[in-house]
Amino acid sequence: MTDHYALFGHPVAHSKSPAVHHAFAAQTGDDLRYELIDAPPGGFAQAVAAFRAGGGRGANVTMPFKLEALALATRPSARATLAGAANCLKFDGDAILADNMDGVGLLHDIQVNQATPLAGRRVLLMGAGGAARGAILPLIEAGPAALTIVNRTLSKAQALRDACADRFPVRAVGYGDLGDQAHDLVLNATSASMNGELPPAPDAVFAPGALAYDVVYGHGPSPFLAQARRAGAGRLADGLGMLIEQAAESYLWWRGTRPGTAPLFTLLRPAT
Ligand code: ATR
Repeated sequence: MTDHYALFGHPVAHSKSPAVHHAFAAQTGDDLRYELIDAPPGGFAQAVAAFRAGGGRGANVTMPFKLEALALATRPSARATLAGAANCLKFDGDAILADNMDGVGLLHDIQVNQATPLAGRRVLLMGAGGAARGAILPLIEAGPAALTIVNRTLSKAQALRDACADRFPVRAVGYGDLGDQAHDLVLNATSASMNGELPPAPDAVFAPGALAYDVVYGHGPSPFLAQARRAGAGRLADGLGMLIEQAAESYLWWRGTRPGTAPLFTLLRPAT
């Protein structure tokens, strides 16, 4: 019997998720169908209910429904709750389980694909919006020596720091207070690159050989990664790996098998 999954969003037609999950299924030998569901604004809960009633097993959720997805959950995970957003749902009888796979996918990309273990390293997290909130718990769980959040609006960085205070002594600063401290991972979790903008961090934030990671992918050359290269970062990464690895985490949660992701990079990265 074919198991049904879907991505809910608005708009959603551009998504590569069906190709990704069908490639995973071909690899693991699972019989599943993954479709795109463009739900109208205000119609998310109803669309999910209809999908469940039709036998849907689980779903990914993207803009603008990630907050509603968390609200719909009867059993949200700790990391989805801290992120304030869910991008993955699993239906189990009457229960709706919700999780946020972005951060754990990101950490897999950083630590495995980019071969950059974070234990004992200095991490700078730029931004305090949805992407940063999704990343912070998995970052803390990786055991860094120090974790600094920098944001244009300092109060949002402080609120995120406070939300994690019982787990890790995070520092929260504005860009003007970064000083000349160097970091082994500089993670741009702002939306600046979507608009071709550059967060105002000084070059000194990049330790020699640092990993510079931009969560944004597919918006052309990133001013942040260009700065990182000039400033001496050793590795540059965009958000494609995070996208692929969060899909693999979703698949693992739904199906119990983590598919290999290497073929997906070939599939989704246009040849240069
Ligand atoms: P997302 O869900 O993509 O994180 P968001 O919740 O709107 O989107 O958050 C966007 C983040 O990018 C915020 O941290 C924002 O900073 P402010 O909180 O000060 O607005 C940050 N951001 C966006 N454009 C930026 C820029 N040009 N420079 C620095 N930070 C920027």
